[in-house]
This record gives sequence, C-alpha cells and structure tokens, in this order.
Amino acid sequence: MIEVSGLSVRLSGKSILHDVSFAARPGALTAIAGPNGSGKTTTMKAIAGELSYDGSARINGHEITGMAPWRLAAMRGVLPQSSAISFPFTVREIVRMGLTSGINSRPQDAESVAAEALEAVDLSGFEGRFYQELSGGEQQRVQLARVLCQIPEPIVDGQPCWLLLDEPVSSLDISHQLTIMKLARDFCERGGGVIAVMHDLNLTALFADRMVLMKGGELSAAGTVTDVLTDEHMLSVFGCPLRVNRVPAGDTPFVLAHSALER
Ligand SMILES: Nc1ncnc2c1ncn2[C@@H]1O[C@H](COP(=O)(O)OP(=O)(O)OP(=O)(O)O)[C@@H](O)[C@H]1O
Ligand SMILES: [Mg+2]
Repeated sequence: MIEVSGLSVRLSGKSILHDVSFAARPGALTAIAGPNGSGKTTTMKAIAGELSYDGSARINGHEITGMAPWRLAAMRGVLPQSSAISFPFTVREIVRMGLTSGINSRPQDAESVAAEALEAVDLSGFEGRFYQELSGGEQQRVQLARVLCQIPEPIVDGQPCWLLLDEPVSSLDISHQLTIMKLARDFCERGGGVIAVMHDLNLTALFADRMVLMKGGELSAAGTVTDVLTDEHMLSVFGCPLRVNRVPAGDTPFVLAHSALER
C-alpha cells in the first residue's frame, strides 16, 4: 500500500501541496489527473522520496523519508516527467543504470533483464543507439525500460513493488500508448502497484482502477474511475464543460470536448 496522509510540501518558500491524502493499493492502477501546475509531479516526487514533506507518506508500511535509499530503490521505480541527459550515453548504458540502482537482479541476470525491458517497451535492437539521437517517444520508452530494469518483478519477498510513472505516455503514438498502459496494467494484475500521472482522460478510464484528481495543490476527489470521472468534477477541476459519456454495451466512461465549444 502507498498511503499519503496530510501531505504538504513547500518549495522555494512557497506552499505547493496542502494536506493531500489518498491511498493506492497493490493490484490496482491509480491515476493522478488535474490541470497543469496542480501538484501532480510534486506529489509523485514526495512519494518517490525526492522531496521533504510534512504529514505522512508510507510505502508498504514504511515512512518514505526515513528509508535507506537502497531499500527504497528496491521497492519502487520512478519515471520522471522529463529526463534530460547531456552525455552521449547509449540506450544499453541508460537502461543498465536501472540495474545498478536496484537490488532485485543478480549480475548474471543483467543482460537478460535489460533485453526483456527493452523488448517490453518495443525497443529491441536499439541497444547500441545513442539516446540523444532517438525521437522523443523512443527516449520516453528507454526511460521506462530503465525503470523496468530496476523493478523487474511486481512482488519481491512477498512485498509488492511499485512503478511511479509521471506522464508515461505523453510523447507516445496511440499504439505505444496502449503497449505501455497494458504493461502497467499487467504489472498490477501480477500483484504490483502503479501510480501514473495522466492527462489523457480516456486512456485513464480504460486502464485505471482508481483516480485521484488534484487542483491548486489540493486533492479534489479520489475513488473509482466511475466515481471521479463525472461532468461536475471535470468542470470544477478543469474549469471547462466536458461531457462524460459511456461506451455503448459497456460501462467505460469517455470524455468528449465538444461540449466545451457549445455556446
Ligand atoms: N522548485 C519549485 N519551486 C517553486 N515552485 C515550484 C517548484 N516546482 C514546482 N513548483 C510549482 O508548484 C506547482 C505544482 O507543480 P507540479 O510540477 O507539481 O505541477 P503538475 O500538476 O505536475 O503540472 P503539469 O501537468 O504541468 O506537469 C506549480 O505552480 C509550479 O510552478
Ligand atoms: Mg507534472
């Protein structure tokens, strides 16, 4: 379980997060959505152990600030919203950085774990390419492969592992969006936990189990996708009239923006 309770963060002397509380359980994909600047990345950084905070943020029962870095690295992998790399590393070198920061894989497994991670993100054969010479979407998938090298298994020693993904599909074409969201869902179905920041509400509706909505550094709503993805919540959080619909013969919600253009 990842449990956030009364989480508050100040950055550069400014209050950024105010009293945010929610829980994400293993076996479920929890999406965090909300407008630009609403505090999604700040929340993810606090959960990742990259920021100091007031309140509480616990992973598998442990307060995150008090954890040894190696212990945290074995329990969760982090895909940042953006990853600038200024040295001419190859794909192989970047992906293998995940191996050194995790403790879950033995050295003899290194090659196969890295190859499997690249295959999972549809980048087999890219090992020798320079990261800086890849497209934006390819770079994003290399970073995800690095995370998968660090956290290759959803459960280790009976404890769930976590993928913390900040906008994992923001640069991807529709086919690779589906590949990566299926990968995240599969990780959950095998007992791990995923928290993903998402801007695409329809992909969220298709793949997420639970949703956290943020606005102005505060939590606006949390619950099942059906509970959270409502016309009222969309209007209050995004400030434009969106209409949540249902796919015929199913119950998956989808959101059309046409209502925002109606006069
Ligand atoms: N280091 C910092 N110092 C001061 N303010 C910051 C800092 N980092 C972020 N902020 C501010 O905190 C707020 C929340 O930022 P955050 O990156 O969490 O937003 P977000 O919800 O992830 O937005 P986006 O959808 O654009 O990625 C923003 O107003 C941002 O300007
Ligand atoms: Mg962000």
